[in-house]
Amino acid sequence: MLKIKIDKESNTPLYLQLYRKLKEKIVDELSADTKLPPIRKLSDMLGINPATVVKAYDMLAQDNLIYKKVGSGSFVAPAAVSAGFKEDKNDSMLNHGQIKLDKSINFASATPSTDLFPVDDFKYAINHVLDRDQGEAFTYQKSQGFLPLRKYIQDYLKSKSIYNNLKEIQIVSGAQQAIDIIAKILLDYGDKVVVEKATYFGALQAFASRKAEIKSIEIKRDGLDLDELEDYLKKNKIKLFFTMQNFQNPTGVNWSREKQQHLLELAEKYNFFIVEDDLLSDLYYTENAPSILKQLDKNERVIYIKSFSKVFMPGLRLALIVLPQKLLPEMLETKYATDISSAGLTQRAFDYYLREGFFEKHISLKRNLFKKRFEVMSEEIDKKLPEEIESFIKPEGGLYFWLKLPQGKDSSKLYEQAAEKGVVFSPGYLFTASSAKSEYFRLSFAAVDEKEIKKGMDILSEVVRDYLGSSDEDDFSPLL
Ligand SMILES: Cc1ncc(COP(=O)(O)O)c(C=O)c1O
Repeated sequence: MLKIKIDKESNTPLYLQLYRKLKEKIVDELSADTKLPPIRKLSDMLGINPATVVKAYDMLAQDNLIYKKVGSGSFVAPAAVSAGFKEDKNDSMLNHGQIKLDKSINFASATPSTDLFPVDDFKYAINHVLDRDQGEAFTYQKSQGFLPLRKYIQDYLKSKSIYNNLKEIQIVSGAQQAIDIIAKILLDYGDKVVVEKATYFGALQAFASRKAEIKSIEIKRDGLDLDELEDYLKKNKIKLFFTMQNFQNPTGVNWSREKQQHLLELAEKYNFFIVEDDLLSDLYYTENAPSILKQLDKNERVIYIKSFSKVFMPGLRLALIVLPQKLLPEMLETKYATDISSAGLTQRAFDYYLREGFFEKHISLKRNLFKKRFEVMSEEIDKKLPEEIESFIKPEGGLYFWLKLPQGKDSSKLYEQAAEKGVVFSPGYLFTASSAKSEYFRLSFAAVDEKEIKKGMDILSEVVRDYLGSSDEDDFSPLL
């Protein structure tokens, strides 16, 4: 018997809720040719109108997820199972095949759940752009990006006190592509790159793919340990330093203005570029937005990346780079060689979406929503986790908390035990260039609502207590 719950209080129409729930069941659980409940039976069971069920079944049939046999009912289409929907669903950047997401309370993902995406507003933008631009939306676009979008972005950045020349703005297909292209432009075999100790795995992968030598430097509560950085710079010529200045992934740290200024001085003195990956500066939960390094960049040392997709709709694959003029020719060549241009329809629809004020509205709604989750998670951590678990800092925004087990413990082992009980998170080694054991772990609240946070923290606190009470005997390998 199918177990499905419909929320009659929700703003989402009932037929859409039912369609989505059934689709999930078909993709995740049901095998080919399974018979779906008859319309009348399902409508009685859920206490909804039969016409609602008919509409949901029609949509599933349109997606080729079910087929209808006259007189017998509706059945799961074999193509729905072989189409590989299930693999797609779990193939997130964070996952890397290492995190088990099925059916778990997901404290691992830093990507908002799909019900938070502004589908209707974006549908409106796409339809508008298709009526307006017709086939132009589907032809190759300029490699540097759709000009009206670049112009809009120039003003948008100005409103955030980031001043630049239009020539310096490049549209790319997501921040990951930005990092990859920058790595291609700047790095050759054996070149040195510095990163924050604990950083975004996708950046490490991009630098490793250029066979660069990666040095990690300790991050403190107000930014990098700049003394350690300068000691390293005295002995080593580096090409670039990769950083997240706000709500750093995974530590949640915000760099202080003093450290930002000092970092720029070091970049000038030791001649390297700083790649600032600004993923989350919009998600602040204090009164004022945090400070962005690019705002202070007088000497074109900072290559600024801002993803427009990650917390908005990651599947859009849209980001911008503001780059120093001298890198322009190589940037254009490399972007062209990578994918010619980012998708025209997406750029045009996003341009319209921005101009209509939808984006600002969406971000401000999401800021409020995530702030609530943040507060609940913060309270739950204080209330439910044992005292031995340390929070690196209490972040002022972003989507995660960076926590530490007592010395000698291993967050991967805790992960295994938590996953068994239905809660997943990101163990610390996922944010390092080595797979060495780590006491740290990241708890994210992007993909869980307040109820799930509480339930997940109940489970996690028990697992943590069990784990802390046990000895990690298998850590002592005999010396052979
Ligand atoms: C710090 C950081 N930078 C970049 C990305 C990738 O962003 P995009 O989806 O724009 O490629 C991620 C995704 O998780 C991230 O955490």
